[in-house]
Amino acid sequence: MRTLIALCLLAFVAGASAQCGVCKTMKWGVCDGDPCACTLMLGVGNKQAVDCNKLIPKCFLMKAEMHRARTNQSTRSIGGKPVETAFVDNDGIYDPVCDANGGFKAVQCNGTETCWCVNSAGVRRSDKGDKNIKCDPVETYWVRLQLTHNATSSIPTTEQLRTAVENVLLQRYYLKKEFVKKVEYDPDARMIVVDLEKPKEDRSVDLPLVGYYMEKDVKVLPLFKDSAPFKLTTASTDVPMNNILVYYVDEVAPTFTMKALTGGVIAVIVVVVLAVVIGLLVLVRSPSLYSFNGFALMSCVQCSGSFFFSFSVLSQEARAGPVQQDSGQRDGANVMKPAMCHF
Ligand SMILES: *[C@@H]1O[C@H](CO)[C@@H](O)[C@H](O)[C@H]1NC(C)=O
Ligand SMILES: *[C@@H]1O[C@H](CO)[C@@H](O)[C@H](O)[C@H]1NC(C)=O
Ligand SMILES: *[C@@H]1O[C@H](CO)[C@@H](O)[C@H](O)[C@H]1NC(C)=O
Repeated sequence: MRTLIALCLLAFVAGASAQCGVCKTMKWGVCDGDPCACTLMLGVGNKQAVDCNKLIPKCFLMKAEMHRARTNQSTRSIGGKPVETAFVDNDGIYDPVCDANGGFKAVQCNGTETCWCVNSAGVRRSDKGDKNIKCDPVETYWVRLQLTHNATSSIPTTEQLRTAVENVLLQRYYLKKEFVKKVEYDPDARMIVVDLEKPKEDRSVDLPLVGYYMEKDVKVLPLFKDSAPFKLTTASTDVPMNNILVYYVDEVAPTFTMKALTGGVIAVIVVVVLAVVIGLLVLVRSPSLYSFNGFALMSCVQCSGSFFFSFSVLSQEARAGPVQQDSGQRDGANVMKPAMCHF
């Protein structure tokens, strides 16, 4: 009898501690201890107690996301930029100049006086300049296809998806499976990430072209004359596509300047000017208003602090080039906006 009770107790404790450890409503939450308690990191040394049987308050969620971005932890499970130098096409279509084999000339001007450098995918990889801009040809050797899909009857496995991706790439786009470097799947986000990569210096295959056909297949209409709509077919279910985002990685890093940083610098200047103006007001105003303005000045100093902080995060994100603007899918870090302050 005693051993039975002991066994039951043991099983109970084991069960309880297995339950403890996961936080149902927040994947970054951690549950441990006896009794089991759940916490979420909101900042360095700031562990917030949370109730993982309920949705976590949004303010905590946002704070946790900012903390993760600041400490260089991923705020997403898969996807996003494959490397810091990857970029997306923000410009869309233009009227290109092609060479005899159908390749893009390294300088493109869209029939205007404004010109820029493109990679082998024809995607802009420099700031815009004038007609005298100098560009070297640069090959795109790595393409990340970030696909999202619609609801399916059952959830496929990553292995099934990998096979389906390889099949569709070979049959529909004539791409051999040796170029499919990686397939990742997040069923919760319904996101499939496919990395197509070739050895640098390899000029035998055009990977961005596959991306372009697939983009048309998913977003607009197939370019093929007679072709079934694009979908992935796995053993267990059909996976209809919802959207696609393409990242390009070139053999040589792009030369964009940091546009978002310019915005950040302007905002910082505005804050500094504001602080100076308020400071002047404090000096000029009568002593009876002094304490009020002193308070406003303090708020402003605090607010400037959060501006500086926000922009340092934003500019880190922006350093390697622009983030995409048009597809509705945004990287987790892009939800961060400079803090709004009330005086
Ligand atoms: C931050 O993460 C990036 C890639 O995710 C990595 O290349 C970089 O070295 C990391 N930096 C630090 C300070 O951990
Ligand atoms: C190219 O020019 C056309 C109009 O001539 C315009 O609609 C298009 O947005 C331009 N594309 C780029 C990338 O500048
Ligand atoms: C996927 O869902 C969107 C709405 O969320 C719908 O507009 C689209 O037609 C669907 N696509 C497919 C292939 O089922």
